[in-house]
Amino acid sequence: MENLAIIGGGNLGRSIVSGLLTSGLFGTTQITVSGKSKKNLTAIKQTFNVVVSQSNTEAIQNAKWILLCVQPKQLASVLDEIKEAIHPDQMLISTVTGVGIQEINKVLSTNKVIRVMPNTGASKKMSMTCIAANNECTEELKTVEKMFSTIGKTLVIEEPLMQAATVLGASGIAFFLRFLRAMIQGGIQMGFHPHEAQIIAVQTAMGAATLVSENDTHPECEIDKVTTPQGCTIQGLNEMEHQGLSSSVIKGVMASYEKINSIK
Ligand SMILES: NC(=O)c1ccc[n+]([C@@H]2O[C@H](COP(=O)([O-])OP(=O)(O)OC[C@H]3O[C@@H](n4cnc5c(N)ncnc54)[C@H](OP(=O)(O)O)[C@@H]3O)[C@@H](O)[C@H]2O)c1
Repeated sequence: MENLAIIGGGNLGRSIVSGLLTSGLFGTTQITVSGKSKKNLTAIKQTFNVVVSQSNTEAIQNAKWILLCVQPKQLASVLDEIKEAIHPDQMLISTVTGVGIQEINKVLSTNKVIRVMPNTGASKKMSMTCIAANNECTEELKTVEKMFSTIGKTLVIEEPLMQAATVLGASGIAFFLRFLRAMIQGGIQMGFHPHEAQIIAVQTAMGAATLVSENDTHPECEIDKVTTPQGCTIQGLNEMEHQGLSSSVIKGVMASYEKINSIK
């Protein structure tokens, strides 16, 4: 792979650095992370031994791939800073929530922009990354797919679905973790120590996800296999539904979707 510059070494930027280095796709000298805070960059240098820079223009100088990992409100100033320094053969990959390919194209007067929506599972090579590109970037799209498939699963989607991908895939990490926390709390109430309850709940969650993923089955099919008629599982499941489990999850997902569509 040709060199990669990551603008923004926050939660997502660091997760991607960690995953890409473990995947072996990039060496430490091939990745440059830029940011504002010297303290953060020093910590990134110490943890990952990649190149760091406080200058975005310096960071992108020798990079073929430029990964934008800043907050939406920080993007305008970053684009303004790098727009004169970008070469036509460089490719931008934006993780920035809610900012379309067209909007970035306009500022940079380039059509070399691909949008990706990974999640923090990237640090453990378990990201779900949705990718959207316009027709001018079909060749580069293949390389971006290859890059992100080394740190998890990828799915190419139409750009209008990017907001939904953000809710389901990126915010989804938090949604699943909140359910996991609730399971742990239930375990503690039944008598397990917190760390024991966590071991059991985490491994069970991984087992459940792996069953559906590897068997390529619908969740309900795997649920049927552990649900004895008149048994304790169906008793618990039905009580959760009486209390609104599925309904509250769907409502939460839709509230998140409404919020993301209102952010500008
Ligand atoms: N976190 C996720 O799970 C996730 C998932 C998918 C997509 N995203 C999207 O990815 C983007 C980054 O998210 P995040 O969670 O990593 O945010 P974050 O933790 O706030 O990180 C943003 C980073 O950008 C840096 N930054 C700010 N202004 C900068 C500038 N002018 N030049 C260079 N770097 C600058 C900050 O560095 P300093 O500390 O040095 O200021 C900070 O480290 C967002 O648009 C978010 O919506 C996030």
